[in-house]
Amino acid sequence: MTAETRSVNGRAWERYGGHHLRRGTVMQPASDIRWGFGSAGPGTRVLGPLAGRRVLDLGCGTGRYAAHLARHHHAHVTGVESAPAQHERAVSSYGSIPGLTLVQADAVDYLQETAPFDVIISVHGALCFTPPAVLLPGIFTALRPGGLLAVSVLHTNYLGEGPAETVEPSPQRLQIAGHDPDTVYRWVLEPALWCRLLGEHGLTVTTIDRIDSEVDGDPTSCRLIRATRAPADGRDLR
Ligand SMILES: C[S@@+](CC[C@H](N)C(=O)[O-])C[C@H]1O[C@@H](n2cnc3c(N)ncnc32)[C@H](O)[C@@H]1O
Repeated sequence: MTAETRSVNGRAWERYGGHHLRRGTVMQPASDIRWGFGSAGPGTRVLGPLAGRRVLDLGCGTGRYAAHLARHHHAHVTGVESAPAQHERAVSSYGSIPGLTLVQADAVDYLQETAPFDVIISVHGALCFTPPAVLLPGIFTALRPGGLLAVSVLHTNYLGEGPAETVEPSPQRLQIAGHDPDTVYRWVLEPALWCRLLGEHGLTVTTIDRIDSEVDGDPTSCRLIRATRAPADGRDLR
């Protein structure tokens, strides 16, 4: 199931990115991070001071948030994106921004070879679409001791379904304008389960923000989870 869901997701995101490349979809640059769907949540301030910090965006898609953090917060940002078409969209929009490096790679592979980061973010990105047991060991290794992980995950979808109480992905609709929707497998888990999984991989959850859609009648709700990797000597280095 693990390898199968990863390749289903990879193909779906490649189709999605390819569709938008052919269509010439123009994405507006981000003016802040939107952690939720139908609601922004607390924005970039939850990441603390970023100037000069090494920041990694896992599953950066079009690169809009990675670019925002490099441009407006003067961080040294790497955006990693597995789908070549999505990566191409990011490069075409933000390929020349100082302080931003865009890498086409699976997060699992990239995390094994990189130098550590001060902050790792994933906005409905790799953490949602990759088996946690496969991705989390790499996140631990690639986060410096005392570093911050901030990830947004789906909690309930547009039908009000979710979250799961076991570590299993659920099929979710991926809307593609003008086409039949695609299916992606997404880890939509109880917050307690995320806390347990992160804890098992050396990451201590400090805060979970609830971000409900502000659209009337929309039951979509997300969670912004922040966690730290314990510093080697017990101090909080943030
Ligand atoms: C919902 S999009 C979010 C994109 C971006 N974070 C944003 O909010 O604009 C999810 C992206 O994560 C990417 N992704 C999923 N699993 C990944 C993995 N294991 N490594 C790298 N990218 C991944 C997908 O290809 C897709 O572009």
